[in-house]
Amino acid sequence: MGAYSNIPLRERNIVLIGFMGVGKTTIGQLVAKKLYRDFIDVDQEIEKRHHMSIPDIFEQMGENYFRKIERELIVDLCTNTRLKIISLGGGAYLQEEVRNVCLSHCIVFFLDLSWECWKERLPLIVDNRPVLKNKTLEEVEQLFFQRRNVYSIHNSRVLTNNLDPETAANEIVESIKWTWEVYEPNE
Ligand code: S3P
Repeated sequence: MGAYSNIPLRERNIVLIGFMGVGKTTIGQLVAKKLYRDFIDVDQEIEKRHHMSIPDIFEQMGENYFRKIERELIVDLCTNTRLKIISLGGGAYLQEEVRNVCLSHCIVFFLDLSWECWKERLPLIVDNRPVLKNKTLEEVEQLFFQRRNVYSIHNSRVLTNNLDPETAANEIVESIKWTWEVYEPNE
């Protein structure tokens, strides 16, 4: 794990991690609004900067290239910005450098969802997720649990089963405020 940086907790970016389609973007936008912070979705930022959709980047430049620009953007955001809410693409956190920079500079929040709840979302998201294409349900399930092991390295977690985005965002905000108060109380 990377060295713990000395950024005050209240100024740290809040990074949302979790499997594809758990609601990182929707919930992240709500959290940002509630905390009066800017929101950055890493995938949207990559699409904007490269003028290409994520599926097109995968198809035309390959996954390795995507992982490189994804990693570079996250390292840049984590080391050079503060007070943001940042949602990562579901595969980003698998890269060790990404995990290290997030854990050392930010507060990492895992949006957890059970496999039973998640698999109902699969038909809604499969078309623009190159990583899910041509996989059987069993293979997707395997990927879900493999990645869950990696997501288990986090600072805080919220189980979003049966929670609407507004409620999930409220839980995250409460948990963050509690962390701030306990570790860096206002005089
Ligand atoms: C990916 C997840 C996607 C996107 C890309 C790869 C992954 O983001 O970054 O398609 O490997 O899990 P979401 O988690 O926002 O779907």
